Amino acid sequence: MRVLFVCLGNICRSPTAEGVLRHKLREAGLADQVEVISAGTGDWHVGKAPDTRSQAAALKRGYDLSAQRAQQVTRADFASVDLILAMDQNNLRHLKAMQPAKSRAELDLFLRRYEGRVDEVPDPYYDGDQGFEQVLDLIEHACDALVIELKGRL
Ligand code: 4NP
Repeated sequence: MRVLFVCLGNICRSPTAEGVLRHKLREAGLADQVEVISAGTGDWHVGKAPDTRSQAAALKRGYDLSAQRAQQVTRADFASVDLILAMDQNNLRHLKAMQPAKSRAELDLFLRRYEGRVDEVPDPYYDGDQGFEQVLDLIEHACDALVIELKGRL
């Protein structure tokens, strides 16, 4: 299975989700069966490592994001992944607009599917450190539910 997380810049939210899910899949013994990637709808940060604030917040909780590099989502991704999870409504709209007619991938809003109370992972880019902690809280919680779903689908 292949899971793709998508946000705007691919330097804050979706790379965090990629790192957290990979970690939780390793803990669950499923790392060999699920490939996790992330991408941005925008191309401004392509090739860059995650934002230093995202890296620092993630590392404090045991997630090392330093090897990840930003990329932009493409129409080809819809044929090569099983599940595309958007961080906010804007990202979801963008993805729906570029989705090819015959798409293998299932497309959904990450938190709507797994978290329940909150729909969107707020963009922390222009926030203080608290925003990055909140992003991690939401992503960790939703990834626990996602791992359970993936276990059932494998
Ligand atoms: P992300 O955050 O979508 O979570 O990676 C952002 C990163 C960069 C920008 C906006 C949001 N930007 O405008 O450059």
